[in-house]
Amino acid sequence: MQTLGKFPSVRMRRMRHDDFSRRLMRESRVSVDDLIYPVFVIEGNNKRVQVPSMPGVERLSLDLLLKQAEECVKLGIPVMALFPSIDASLKTPDGREAANPDGLIPRVVRSLKEHFPELGVMCDVALDPYTTHGQDGLIDETGFILNDETIEMLVKQMLAQAQAGADIVAPSDMMDGRVAAIRAALDENGFVNTPVMAYSAKFASTFYGPFRDAAGSAPAFGDRRSYQMDPHNGREAMRECELDVQEGADILMIKPAMPYLDLVRECRDRFDLPVAAYQVSGEYAMIKAAAKAGLIDEYGVMCESAVSIFRAGADILITYFACELADAIRKGDIG
Ligand code: PBG
Repeated sequence: MQTLGKFPSVRMRRMRHDDFSRRLMRESRVSVDDLIYPVFVIEGNNKRVQVPSMPGVERLSLDLLLKQAEECVKLGIPVMALFPSIDASLKTPDGREAANPDGLIPRVVRSLKEHFPELGVMCDVALDPYTTHGQDGLIDETGFILNDETIEMLVKQMLAQAQAGADIVAPSDMMDGRVAAIRAALDENGFVNTPVMAYSAKFASTFYGPFRDAAGSAPAFGDRRSYQMDPHNGREAMRECELDVQEGADILMIKPAMPYLDLVRECRDRFDLPVAAYQVSGEYAMIKAAAKAGLIDEYGVMCESAVSIFRAGADILITYFACELADAIRKGDIG
C-alpha cells in the first residue's frame, strides 16, 4: 500500500535501473521464430521492380527471390508468404489463372521447396491479383461478389498451391464458408497435414492501399465492404474467428495489426489457437514515410510496433520489416 510518509513504499523504478533487471521484467518476447515475411513475385529473369508506395519493398522475379529466400533461411525466418503480381494479359473476370498448376505461384513454390526445403512457404488464397476487375471473387451483373462460385475457384487455386508444395494456405478473401471448403478439399486430396491460416477478421481497411500498388490488385470498381469487415465491429470479428475455429482453421489472423490491437488481444483471450497479426502495407508505409521526412526514428518505431503487437497477444507477426526485425532481435535491441 502506498504510504503518505517521506518515501514511496513501492518503487517501480527499482527494476528499471539496470539492463539485467529490465530484461528480467520483460513480459512479452519477440522472437525471429514468430515472423513471416511477405514478398511479391513477378514473371521474368533478373527483374527487380521497386514498389513506390513501399520503400524497401521490391517485386522480384524467381531467380532474385531465391536469393531473398536464402537470406530468410540465414536469418532464421521460418516462413515466406508469396503474393503475385500478374501480367494484365492473364487476368479474366473469373480469375481462372489462379488455378493454373503451371502459373507463376505454383512454379515459384516448386522452385523454393526444391532449393530451400527447410523454409516454410505460405500462399495467399484469393483471386484479386487474377481478376480483371481486381475484386476478390467472381461477380454477378450488378457487380456483387458471388460467394459460393468464388469458393469453387478458390479451392482450385488452393489445390494448385498445395500440389506445388505450399506448406501453409492462407485464404484472404473473406467469403463465407471458405475455410471449411478448403479444409475438406485438402483432406480429400491427401493434404491432411497442410495447415490453413485463416484471415479470420480481415477488415475493409484503407491501410491496404500500398499493397494494391505492389500486387496490381486495386479494385476497378467499388470497394470491398461487401465481404471484408466493417472497421467499427469487434464482436462481429470474434464471430468470424469462432466460425473459422469451427471450420477447421489451424491459425487465426487479425488484419491489419496496429489499428486493431484490441482485437488481437480479444482473440488471444477467447481462443486457444495461434493468433497471427498482419502489419499491413499502409502501416509499413507510414513508418517509412515519417522516417524519411525526419519525423521519427524508423528503427525504434519498427521495434516498438512489433513489441506492441506481441504484447497485445499475437503469436505470429506477418510484416514487411521481418528481415530488419530479425537483425534487431539478433543484436538484442528487442527480444
Ligand atoms: C489480397 C490481399 C490483400 C492483402 C493481403 N492479401 C489486399 C486486399 O485485400 O486488398 C493486404 C496486405 C497488405 O496491405 O499488406 N486478398
